[in-house]
Amino acid sequence: MGNKMAKLSLSILSADFSALGDTLAMLGNGGADFIHMDVMDGRFVPNISFGSAVIESLSKKTELPFDVHLMVEEPGDALARYVTERTEYIVVHYEACRHLDRVLRGIKSLNVKCGVALNPSTHPAVLDYVLDLVDQILVMSVNPGFGGQAFIPGVLDKVRMYDSVRKELKLRYEIAVDGGVNVETAPSILEAGADILVVGSAVVGAADPSAALRTFREVANACAG
Ligand code: DX5
Ligand code: ZN
Repeated sequence: MGNKMAKLSLSILSADFSALGDTLAMLGNGGADFIHMDVMDGRFVPNISFGSAVIESLSKKTELPFDVHLMVEEPGDALARYVTERTEYIVVHYEACRHLDRVLRGIKSLNVKCGVALNPSTHPAVLDYVLDLVDQILVMSVNPGFGGQAFIPGVLDKVRMYDSVRKELKLRYEIAVDGGVNVETAPSILEAGADILVVGSAVVGAADPSAALRTFREVANACAG
C-alpha cells in the first residue's frame, strides 16, 4: 500500500452544468483537496466543456484550490486567463505544446504551480528534460475528452516509473492520475506511487455525491500508511 495520505481532486466534468455553483457548495467541505477543472477546446479533444469565464465565476463559490487541466491546443498565450484566487495548478498536455519548456515557465511566471499531462499512449521519457521544472505530472488513465470512461491499467507502469525517478533524483513533483478512478481502481493507483487521485463520475455521478465522496475519502485513507 502507499505510505502517504492521498489527495483527492474532484472533477466537475460530469456534473449538471446548470448548477455548478450548487455542486461546489454541496461538495466543498466534503473531503476533496482540490477541484479539478477540465477545460476542453474541441480541437485537442473532440469535446468542448467550459473555459476561463466559468472557472472565474466558480472561484467565488468554494474555498478549495483549483487544478486546471487544459485539454487545449497550444495553451501558451492564454495561460493568464486561468489564474483566479483559487488556481493552484495549471496543467497542460505534452501533446498540445510545441514548446513545452516555454509554456511551463510561463505558468510559473504567473506564480502558479505547473503540471504536465500525458495521454495513455505517450512514452514517459518525453518529460525527462522538464522533470526539474514540473510541480505535477498528470498521468491520464483514459483517453482525454470525456468523463465516465474505463480505467486503462497499463498506465500504472508510468506512475511507478515517475515515482522511482522522483526518489532517485530527489525531485518534488506530485503524481496525479486522471480517468476512471473509483473505489475499485484507487488502491492500485496509490500502491503504484500516485499522490493525487482525480475523481469525476464516481463521485459527481453517484446518486448521493456527498456520500460517495465520504466513502472515497475513507478508501483513500485506508490505503495510506
Ligand atoms: C477526461 C478528464 C477527466 C475526467 C475524469 O478527459 O480529464 O478529468 O473528467 O472523469 P472520470 O472520473 O469520470 O473518468
Ligand atoms: Zn482531467
